[in-house]
Amino acid sequence: MRNGDPTVGIGILGAGTVGGTLVRRLVDDREAIQAKTGIDLHVRRIAVRDPAKPRAFHVPAELVTDDPGLVVDDPDVQLVVEVMGGKDPAGSLVHAALEAGKPVVTANKELIAAHGAELIALAERRGVPLLFEAAVGGGIPIIRPLAETLAGEQIERVAGIVNGTTNYILTRMGDGDDYADALAEAQALGYAEPDPTADVSGADAAAKAAILASLAFGTWVGSDAVPFEGIDRLRREDIEFARFLGYEVKLLAIATRTAAGVCARVHPAMIPAGHPLASIRAATNAIFITGPSVDELLFAGPGAGGEPTATAVLGDVIDAAREILAGAVVAPRIRFSPGEIADFGGVATKWYVRLEVEDEPGVLAQIAAAFGEEQVSIKSVWQEGEGSGATLLIITHRAAEARQRSAVESVRALDVVRSVAATLRVESPEV
Ligand code: NAP
Ligand code: HSE
Repeated sequence: MRNGDPTVGIGILGAGTVGGTLVRRLVDDREAIQAKTGIDLHVRRIAVRDPAKPRAFHVPAELVTDDPGLVVDDPDVQLVVEVMGGKDPAGSLVHAALEAGKPVVTANKELIAAHGAELIALAERRGVPLLFEAAVGGGIPIIRPLAETLAGEQIERVAGIVNGTTNYILTRMGDGDDYADALAEAQALGYAEPDPTADVSGADAAAKAAILASLAFGTWVGSDAVPFEGIDRLRREDIEFARFLGYEVKLLAIATRTAAGVCARVHPAMIPAGHPLASIRAATNAIFITGPSVDELLFAGPGAGGEPTATAVLGDVIDAAREILAGAVVAPRIRFSPGEIADFGGVATKWYVRLEVEDEPGVLAQIAAAFGEEQVSIKSVWQEGEGSGATLLIITHRAAEARQRSAVESVRALDVVRSVAATLRVESPEV
């Protein structure tokens, strides 16, 4: 501890859902945190877009500014927390703080997934920590376990539910509620991103998948390398058909290490109703980590919202403050080596395909032949309706993603197929 003074000055960029909760906790729990950690965390400056906006915390008005540069440059700020979101200006502010030798804590998965490799390298050069526990899984400790506790494990797979907003929407839709109402509620509860398109399109989960894959496999996987699909085109009838077939629909992030390289992907998928992920409801996140020595670990808990996320940020703040006071920084926590990124097209998946077809003899044979030409074999078929038209629900056996896609395009071109109404991947129990 420097001269026995336990004070660490904190500057906070953003005081919305996460930042506002963080400020309130830092102010209200200051003594309790000092009693437990010996560290006196002192909020020195806060940047927001609109200083006149009413806030759920009480700090002297002169601490709040609309100039985030003042927070980074303030000599009394020894540690910068970035919870404003987005790549810019958050990225340049984080960059400036690290350049100035100030530790940074961020919850910004979009920024870390896009620019994490260079920011982590900069933090290493400047000898300061860059911590981002809150960037994945909200209140669930997942970054530190992956980067530190499991640093000695040869992780094979990380898979689970990593977006609270979409899991909340899927839960509500499964209960019979409307997509738009469920999204509005998720926003009101503080689960959604400032622009919720990032949630429903799968982009937020893809950024998290990139971070998880990078930490799990030690090869940097940028967000550009993660193909993603969201729930924005998912229809309620497919949730219902999935249930009829014994599945639940979840938005999954799946990262694997294969002989061809590291592969991370995000998409909605049907999972067997008995699988633990099928019963994960509302904004809860749940992430399985699989490795040869630990077998399977499950991390689950509140994946979004101000309180759980601020708890994760606070843990990082205490960790970084401890290093500042000790004058001993562990940076970086993990190093990345070059590695191959495997093409998703080569990954074997099973598909559910819903077709609107003419109900006449020979239709099924034509469809089966189209799948067969792409070496995709059909596991099961159900027919709904009869007469002028029918709905076919098909589940295929596992085949390369690229073949599944080509097979569906061949089926779409058949005269007897009125439309390919929906496709979903089907993930097996070993998700
Ligand atoms: P939010 O409620 O929209 O808060 C953003 C804050 O940043 C607001 O206080 C806003 O000011 C301020 N801000 C934005 N742009 C600014 C600028 N150019 N200059 C100064 N201040 C600016 O967002 P949030 O939900 O707290 O999310 C913040 C970050 O945490 C994001 O990176 C998000 O991905 C991440 N995160 C969120 C959650 C969650 O559950 N919400 C969970 C994990 C991670 P005003 O208040 O004046 O508008
Ligand atoms: N919008 C994000 C989600 C916040 O819903 O999961 C947590 O990262």
